[in-house]
Amino acid sequence: MNKQIKNIAVLTSGGDAPGMNAAIRAVVRTGIYNGLNVFGVIQGYQGLITNNIKPMDARSVSNILHLGGTILKTARCLEFKTEEGMAKAYQHVKENNIDALVTIGGDGTFTGAKIFSERYGINVIGIPGTIDNDLAGSDFTLGYDTAINTVLDAVDKIRDTADAHDRLFFIEVMGRNSGCIALRSAIASGAEVVLLPEQETTIDDLIKKLELGASTKKSSSIVIVSEGHKKGGAFEMARQVNERFKHYDTKVTILGHLQRGGSPSSFDRILGSRLGFAAVNALIAGETEKMAGLIGNEVKLTSIHDAITTQINKLEPDLLEMTEVLSI
Ligand code: F6P
Repeated sequence: MNKQIKNIAVLTSGGDAPGMNAAIRAVVRTGIYNGLNVFGVIQGYQGLITNNIKPMDARSVSNILHLGGTILKTARCLEFKTEEGMAKAYQHVKENNIDALVTIGGDGTFTGAKIFSERYGINVIGIPGTIDNDLAGSDFTLGYDTAINTVLDAVDKIRDTADAHDRLFFIEVMGRNSGCIALRSAIASGAEVVLLPEQETTIDDLIKKLELGASTKKSSSIVIVSEGHKKGGAFEMARQVNERFKHYDTKVTILGHLQRGGSPSSFDRILGSRLGFAAVNALIAGETEKMAGLIGNEVKLTSIHDAITTQINKLEPDLLEMTEVLSI
């Protein structure tokens, strides 16, 4: 049965991702356009627990489309994982007469949202916001495209100095369990090798590829290492290569959190706008425990359960093949 929704709240939780502000803006304005009252929760689930909830109006989301981060702030909230924490959050949801939530984040955010919805009957729609692109139910997550562009900007610069000094650079990029950022950045930057969590690359394979490059007169090389690479990060891989080949002039760069910041790309601004708009329309239509995602350039709803439990490997097979072919 459709629950009449009057008051909704939006929050961002987990790691921030460029494009979250576009999604917040779309949620607020779509809600107001449809006669709803919209609240913003500060610092994700932490803000529900501490009652840091404020009314939003159309102007409260002016001039934020181009901003990285999230105007609502975010947190990885351990207390929300406890029964007491969730009960406190529900108390404040009730006090503020909030009927439904839009939660923007990754798998941790959605796991919390699902339990909260099941336990307290609050309707919830999720928007996938994580640079890792590691959720089922959306070809792209918010922030992924911008993060790749940020990586590229850095790798292009490193390429200049690598070439000038004839050096071998190991560049580590984010992606806890997902090689999506690494793979796309490797293709777009022309990296010689990419090391992914989803693929087994032995030190012998890596050395073979580097030696092949050297034998065909490559003077410098870029190896992109995903932080989730099972055999070690950039420092470890560089150490192992140097142990065997002392003559390589090896350098390491960890790109780290700079990948999460910066102005969102047009793709992420549009994606955030589409998903925010769709999330509110889904709540109005009485949907709950769904995630709004982009599949084949169409906005579709997937159950949150499927989004967080379906085993996925989003590495495009043609891109994987190209990492071998185009780097000779
Ligand atoms: O989930 C996105 C992500 O950026 C991962 O790629 C990375 O491992 C993690 O967040 C870092 O989290 P934190 O900012 O909490 O250290």
